[in-house]
This record gives sequence, structure tokens and C-alpha cells, in this order.
Amino acid sequence: MKITMIGTGYVGLVTGTCLAEVGNDVLCVDVDADKIAKLDAGEVPIHEPGLEPMVRRNAAAGRLRFTTDIDAAVAHGAIEFIAVGTPPHEDGSADMQYVLQAARNIGRRMSATKIIVNKSTVPVGTAERVKAVVAEELARRNVQIPFAVASNPEFLKEGAAVDDFMRPDRVVVGADDERAIAALRNVYAPFMRSHERLLVMDVRSAELTKYAANAMLATRISFMNELANLADELGADIEHVRQGIGSDPRIGWHFLYPGVGYGGSCFPKDVKALRHTADEHGRPLKLLAAVEAVNEGQKQVLVEKIVARLGEDLSGRRFALWGLAFKPNTDDMREAPSRTVIDALAARGARITAYDPIAMDEARRALGPRDHLSYATSPMAACEGADALVVVTEWKEFRSPDFDTLKRVLKEPLVFDGRNLYEPEMVRAAGLEYFAIGRR
Ligand SMILES: NC(=O)c1ccc[n+]([C@@H]2O[C@H](COP(=O)([O-])OP(=O)(O)OC[C@H]3O[C@@H](n4cnc5c(N)ncnc54)[C@H](O)[C@@H]3O)[C@@H](O)[C@H]2O)c1
Repeated sequence: MKITMIGTGYVGLVTGTCLAEVGNDVLCVDVDADKIAKLDAGEVPIHEPGLEPMVRRNAAAGRLRFTTDIDAAVAHGAIEFIAVGTPPHEDGSADMQYVLQAARNIGRRMSATKIIVNKSTVPVGTAERVKAVVAEELARRNVQIPFAVASNPEFLKEGAAVDDFMRPDRVVVGADDERAIAALRNVYAPFMRSHERLLVMDVRSAELTKYAANAMLATRISFMNELANLADELGADIEHVRQGIGSDPRIGWHFLYPGVGYGGSCFPKDVKALRHTADEHGRPLKLLAAVEAVNEGQKQVLVEKIVARLGEDLSGRRFALWGLAFKPNTDDMREAPSRTVIDALAARGARITAYDPIAMDEARRALGPRDHLSYATSPMAACEGADALVVVTEWKEFRSPDFDTLKRVLKEPLVFDGRNLYEPEMVRAAGLEYFAIGRR
């Protein structure tokens, strides 16, 4: 199949590459010329496990190509996926300018029938808006070319995106056009050979499903964070509580980890956008308002623990910070809790030496040069002479540090763990003072 992927970011690049991997002829287009130049040179601009060799392999086979040429992109695909960003506006609503621009580009240029598929996370009603924009452009050109618009929200997780795409739990297709449904069945057939996982539904339900999924996951995180803070007050241990509830199959194990709050490019913006949609329809989502409020507070919890131990004035102090990315296995710094922690420490006069196995380049780019922030070449180097260690991202390599060495290199034997990575007894046995989230 000839497929065009509009937007070559985390979602577009992974989707386009995986679709090429199963034999499709994929052309990825982006307005970011630097990104396309890198990809043309065989460089993958994001960190995603397994992606780079797959990009190279499919590019070498001629099935995966990159361009900034919109004419070529629109001419290429019988199916045109829109996978551009939908960042939040000030008021929390999703900024639809990139999606609508992509739609307009198609309408202005298409000369043959197209199936247009929204893969970006978009508010309910967007497929109708895309349809209207394309129809408007066709009318302006005074041509009649049949086209369909479908919704196909993406559920991949950064850090495991290739795997998620190749082995999806489910693929949601929202469409009322039989040709679009048949085409998307064909596109996804290679990914569901063991059993069918394609869920076909009406467009609005598909659009809402994506927000509902992220809102539910964010809710679980905020729920656990709030309980962890209560556990702190009550002298209970949230780790025991987590095991005690996660073992109930009605609850399950996923997304029950308390920490420094959720971040990343999706949960914060999607919770906001869904709330905005609900407000617009006079049905405010009270639960999600609380989920968001809890999350905002949670990003400060670790710093509050630091202040409780070391005092409000942190000038002259330096903290080692382990982990910058919003979660492990990605370099994505969008809405990363590390940013809030760094800002809050810096606002109290502290300096920070950060280490992250993958995200330091992206952090330098996203945070810019700052007097209070430097980067170390290893986790222990960050800790040399620091007043305390602050753990923000649960990278595997942080899970089992040499606590004796840690005690030796830190100026003060203090560990503030925002991810509950360690057994408190083990850390304390090494002579370190240990502060975690909701742990005894
Ligand atoms: N990142 C994730 O984990 C994830 C998961 C599921 C869904 N989503 C959703 O997928 C969408 C894309 O997310 P992302 O993380 O890949 O974003 P991203 O910012 O990494 O990539 C978006 C790309 O679109 C390009 N672009 C913007 N306007 C364009 C246009 N008119 N034509 C061509 N390219 C254009 C940008 O230059 C950018 O490279 C968002 O709606 C997001 O909510 C993201």
C-alpha cells in the first residue's frame, strides 16, 4: 500500500517505520527540514528502543522515504495519516492548527481519491472539521474527488513504541465509511495475525476513547500519589498498600506507582483538553479536575521533603539529580517532572548536577544554558560532593546503586527518592538517610 505519514515525530516516525517494515511503501513528510535532513542522512532524531535499525533497514530497502515536499506527499498515499502535534493552548484546549493545516494541504492538492486518517490525539468532532476543511478546499478548486476521513488514535508508549506498534493491545478505528474501514483493516492485518484486535466504532467514540484511556491512567497515578501522601501522615507504607491492592485482578498492577507526578507529552495535555471539551459542553469533569490538581501538587512533594529536612533556604547547596526524561527509555523532556524539581530547587538558591543516560542532550536543548544547572558524565560523578541525591526518573541503571560508594561521595548522606526505587532498610543500612514517597 502507498501510505503518506504527515508529521514525523514520535508517533509519525514510529508508525511510518512499522508500516514500512511490513512491506508498505511509506513516505513521511514533515515541515521541520532539519528533522528530514537528519532522517535522510540515516540519523534518528529521537530516542526510541529498536527504532534506528528499523528506520535504516526500511530506508535502505526503499520502502521508507522522507520529504518536506508537500506536493509529493499528497500525491503519494492512497491513505494519508495525520500524525502532527496537538499541543495545548493557554486555556487547555488542543491547538488544532497543525491538524487543520495538514488537512488543508491535502484538500488543496489531491487529484485522486484519499482516505485521510487522524492519528493525532484530537478532540471529539475533529474528523468532521477535517472533512469540512478538505471539502472547502475541493470546492474552492471546483473539483469533486471522493474522500473519507477516519479516526485511528494511537496508543503507543514512548520508550516501548516500536514494540507497542508491532504488537498492539488493540487498534481503534472510528469510521462510517466502508472503504475506509476496509483499508484500515488491510493496513493493520499484518499486526494481528494471532487474533483480531481491531475495534471498529463510530468516529466520535474513537476520538473520545483516546482521551478516556489517558485520563484513566492519569487518574490511577494521582490516586496513588494522594494515598502515598496520606500514608506518609499515617505511618503506613504505600508499597505494601500497592501490593495489597494490585493483586486484586479487578484493580491490576499497572499505573499504581506513586512518584513525583505524571508528565510527558500526552497525559498533562490530554487531561487538560478533555476537561476543556467537557467544560464547553457544560459537563465539567470533577474527577479530572482533582486528578490535575493532585498532580500539580505532587511535582512539589519531593522538594517539600527536601525543604523539611534542609530548610527553606538552599543557597550554597548542590543537589545530584538522577533522571531528566519524564520516564525511562525516552529522551522526551516535555512536561518532565524534573523540570519542576530543578526550578523549585533553583528558586531556593540551590545548584543542580544532573545525570540522565539518554536525555541530557535533549535537556540541554529544552532547558537552555542555566547557571544553576550542570551535567555529569555518570550517576556517581553527579553525586561527588553533593548535599543530597534526588532521584526523579526510574531508569534501570539507578535501581541498584552501590550505597556504600554513594555514602562516601555525598557531602551529606541524604537520598530523596521520587520513584520509590529502593528498600528503605537497605539504604539506611548503608548509613544514608532515605526519603521516599509514602514509604515508612
Ligand atoms: N508521543 C506519544 O507518546 C504519543 C502517543 C499517542 C498519541 N500521541 C499523539 O500523536 C500526535 C503527535 O505526537 P508526537 O509526540 O509524535 O508529536 P511530535 O511533536 O513529536 O511530532 C509532530 C511532528 O509534526 C510536524 N508537523 C507539524 N505540522 C505539520 C504539517 N502541517 N505537515 C507536516 N508535519 C507537520 C512537526 O514538525 C513534528 O515533527 C499528538 O496529537 C499526540 O498527542 C502521542
